[in-house]
Amino acid sequence: MEVSKETMEKLQTIKAALLGYGTVGSGIYTLLERRKDEMPQKIGAKLEITRILVRNAKKLREGAPAELFTDSWKEIIEDKEIRIVIEVMGGIEPSRNYILEALRAGKHVVTANKDLLAAHGKELLETAKEHNCDLMFEASVAGAIPIIRPLKECLAGNRITEIMGIVNGTTNYILTKMSAEGMDYADALAKATELGYAEADPTADVEGYDAGRKLAIMASIAFNSRVTFDDVYIEGITKITARDIEYAQEFGKTIKLLGVARNTDDGIEVKVHPMLISTEHPLAAVKDSYNAVFVHGDALDDAMFMGRGAGSLPTASAVMGDVIDVARNILSNCNGRIGCTCYKSLPVKKPEDTKTKFFLRMLVEDKPGVLAGVTSVFGNSAVSIAQVVQKKRRGKDAELVVITDEVMERNFKDAITILTGMSMVREISSMIRVYE
Ligand code: NAP
Ligand code: HSE
Repeated sequence: MEVSKETMEKLQTIKAALLGYGTVGSGIYTLLERRKDEMPQKIGAKLEITRILVRNAKKLREGAPAELFTDSWKEIIEDKEIRIVIEVMGGIEPSRNYILEALRAGKHVVTANKDLLAAHGKELLETAKEHNCDLMFEASVAGAIPIIRPLKECLAGNRITEIMGIVNGTTNYILTKMSAEGMDYADALAKATELGYAEADPTADVEGYDAGRKLAIMASIAFNSRVTFDDVYIEGITKITARDIEYAQEFGKTIKLLGVARNTDDGIEVKVHPMLISTEHPLAAVKDSYNAVFVHGDALDDAMFMGRGAGSLPTASAVMGDVIDVARNILSNCNGRIGCTCYKSLPVKKPEDTKTKFFLRMLVEDKPGVLAGVTSVFGNSAVSIAQVVQKKRRGKDAELVVITDEVMERNFKDAITILTGMSMVREISSMIRVYE
């Protein structure tokens, strides 16, 4: 239905401020401009960004009028007409402080900041509740993919027992390029940075911290129990070599950086690490910067959510969805409807108390009895072997590749400590978990 010029003039304008005009902030402004004329029909009001906070307000920026830019937070927090604050600056401070101040001033907040939520989610959500405000953060996990709201709303009737997936676009892009095109690690990382997928400091991506933060947020919501970044066991992709990728392919598998969270009878498991996964598994088909999240619930069974996990407009898509939701709540006078959903207090297990399969690649002396020696170490540590492959390499040494059955991580690590001290073992080249 067309909205008449008269009605348009009478319509309320919901004003918002944007904190940050980088990759995500500029995408949000662009997307809002694109949808601006539809807002009256979509939500029954006009929606407008009236201020944009940046560090350097004098710098020339494309896409938004120069007069919107400011470097003064005071101008925004003291502007009573601004109802929504969209935080896309990143980092902990001053973002934490600005969000708390905004909520205390009765302004609703939308953020994409997983670093902040994974560490201070409780404080922020409690402050939002206290002031009857919305605090929405769909873009903080897996970019454009709707996962926070589905967990809080559509899947609320389930007991979720597992949530896992590929939640970092940069590392998925790098591993895809290394596997499919034989691209060098450094070149693939440079390209991911150029495309705007990587964080300002890509350490957080390649070392798995970014995925760890996202997994902490998802696990908290899925299991209704607070999980923070410090609870997550994390390994990145920097040690993955072309040789590991070759072996994975020989075994009919591919290597992905996976975040895996399980809600077991004796506690929550939260781990981020590279894993070998069958090429037939749907996650193996998730390539480039795409992300995907798998959820298992008692009623739902399995569901997979897939989409773009990073980048300007994909992330803006999730932020805009939240902004529109907040605006609808303002118009219906029902903000603060769904706040913190962590009503349980479950223990988080240590990684050594969890079970997994391992892929192990090592260099050993090439002489009789070595294989028997290695397998007896595993046997004595209660590590059962599923597959062994031995190849000649480098003079007198042989490369041995072992895939274990599902074992306690503690037992596997004990076996590795013993093997490392044996003279027949030249080098433990890589240990990668296997998903089955
Ligand atoms: P970015 O490109 O580095 O942009 C950051 C923006 O924030 C810049 O405009 C910067 O101002 C401004 N800013 C930073 N600190 C500030 C401060 N103290 N005061 C005022 N302005 C400040 O970052 P981004 O990639 O857009 O990421 C923003 C947030 O979204 C982060 O939390 C990130 O984790 C999250 N996120 C990003 C993606 C993605 O694909 N990039 C996806 C999902 C979530 P100047 O321009 O003046 O320096
Ligand atoms: N650097 C992140 C990624 C951006 O590569 O997935 C989205 O959080």
